[in-house]
Amino acid sequence: MLRRMLVLYASLLLLVLAALEVPLAIAFAARGTQSLFIDQLNDTARFASLTEPALRTGELVTLRAELTRYDDLYGIATAVVDRNGSVVLSSRGGLALDETARLRVRDALSGERSDSKEVVWPWRRAPMVVAEPVGLGGRVVAAVITISPTTAVRDHTLTRWAELAAAGLAALLVFGLAAVPLTRWVLRPVRRLDEVTGELSAGQWQARVPVTTGPAELRRLGEHFNAMVTAVGQVLEQQRSFVSYAGHQMRNPLAALRLRVENLAPHVPPGGERDLALAIDEVTRLGRILDGILALARAEGGGYCLAAVDCGRVARERVNALRHNPSGVRVRHRGAKHAAVLAAHDGVGQILDALLDNAIKFAGRGSTVTVAVSRPFHTSDGPTVAIDVVDDGPGIPASDLANAAQRFWRRPEHQNIDGTGLGLSIATALAEASGGALRLHPAHPHGLHATVVLPAVSPAASPPGSTASRPDARAAGTSRPPTSGSDAALPGARRPTRPVA
Ligand SMILES: Nc1ncnc2c1ncn2[C@@H]1O[C@H](COP(=O)(O)OP(=O)(O)OP(=O)(O)O)[C@@H](O)[C@H]1O
Ligand SMILES: [Mg+2]
Repeated sequence: MLRRMLVLYASLLLLVLAALEVPLAIAFAARGTQSLFIDQLNDTARFASLTEPALRTGELVTLRAELTRYDDLYGIATAVVDRNGSVVLSSRGGLALDETARLRVRDALSGERSDSKEVVWPWRRAPMVVAEPVGLGGRVVAAVITISPTTAVRDHTLTRWAELAAAGLAALLVFGLAAVPLTRWVLRPVRRLDEVTGELSAGQWQARVPVTTGPAELRRLGEHFNAMVTAVGQVLEQQRSFVSYAGHQMRNPLAALRLRVENLAPHVPPGGERDLALAIDEVTRLGRILDGILALARAEGGGYCLAAVDCGRVARERVNALRHNPSGVRVRHRGAKHAAVLAAHDGVGQILDALLDNAIKFAGRGSTVTVAVSRPFHTSDGPTVAIDVVDDGPGIPASDLANAAQRFWRRPEHQNIDGTGLGLSIATALAEASGGALRLHPAHPHGLHATVVLPAVSPAASPPGSTASRPDARAAGTSRPPTSGSDAALPGARRPTRPVA
């Protein structure tokens, strides 16, 4: 925008300069022409008045001497031409008249005086020709012609034009020096608005536009923008607290319902036991969905106290706990034994639970799940640790990866497997609450590769286990609207700059 405004200003200034300087440049050339013409006309008229007595008396020697001296002095060729157009006297030998000179002589012999219609432009090298009639006894008997070079006038005009150009350039320079800081100052509120929009889209809902400086219109825009952000934040907060409140309210009736359904067992007629068991299963499933909704509302609600966590240790504990799982899936740990990250309370454990649960549940018997914790590495967002959970099961088709972290999304063939479709949404929300991200990719040759990136903590700054605070939206008690956990749907997420193995 700064560049565009500068180009606009410069174009306007160039137009103004052209409107001022072009007429001035034309006036300079015209004035030079005029002054040369007047001088030359006077001299030619003087020679015409000297020629008349010379022709009358036949005494041409003095006149010739005068013409020659004049030519020597000023470099202006002068000649007397008779009525037939023949040169009878000239300041230099062998003077030949060109077409323009002949026309001027013809006009002078017919009694017309020369005029200065043609401007001597710097690129016009033709000499200035002036002819004056010589009268004798009331009739024109000859003409005096002067042929003057225009070099001096052209040089003078060029000098003036150069001065004009220099003045124009100086004006442009002064404009440039003044316009850049001025335009920056004018655009500062717009830039701030842009920065705040970026902060908001990165989840920093406490960001607001300063409305104390800048033009009144932009201050008003900033005020309305801030009001809009507050309103949207309130709506999101209300929505979240409603979900949370409703979930809590439903818990007790659901527990009571389950109890009552179980109590019906003695009264069920023979053959109805299976229906009763199915009813209890449905109530249990409803309870799990409710737990999932509450967990998601909590994860998205933010307000987490971020703490340094040794995710290497958490990963090893989880892997050890699942090593002998009933599904017959091989679970192993690779990579760093210790890696300190900053994460929401119990966030790393919950994220790993969700990913390992999925891998074991969907990869199937005989498959292998690998949990790999990286050493801290540098990204554009600072030091980062990546936790990779890779299975060699059927995985998720690439076209569905973007949907996998959507709430309640489940692959059609997994509808009969136990689950609510909220595990990846909760894991994504927890990773983002910690200032990180969760991404899903296809594993090779098959399977799912989930990568969690979290901000690393330098051991010197904060030892694992100690509480640390981050200038993060969620750490500040704010949250951002839910986003999908896929690569493409993680705006502003921390991105590792090395391929995660
Ligand atoms: N490792 C995996 N392999 C294949 N499909 C997967 C894998 N992980 C997730 N999915 C697919 O993504 C869907 C969403 O996963 P998510 O963890 O959100 O829900 P869920 O596991 O079905 O339910 P819950 O986590 O609440 O028990 C799953 O239903 C499954 O279809
Ligand atoms: Mg799951």
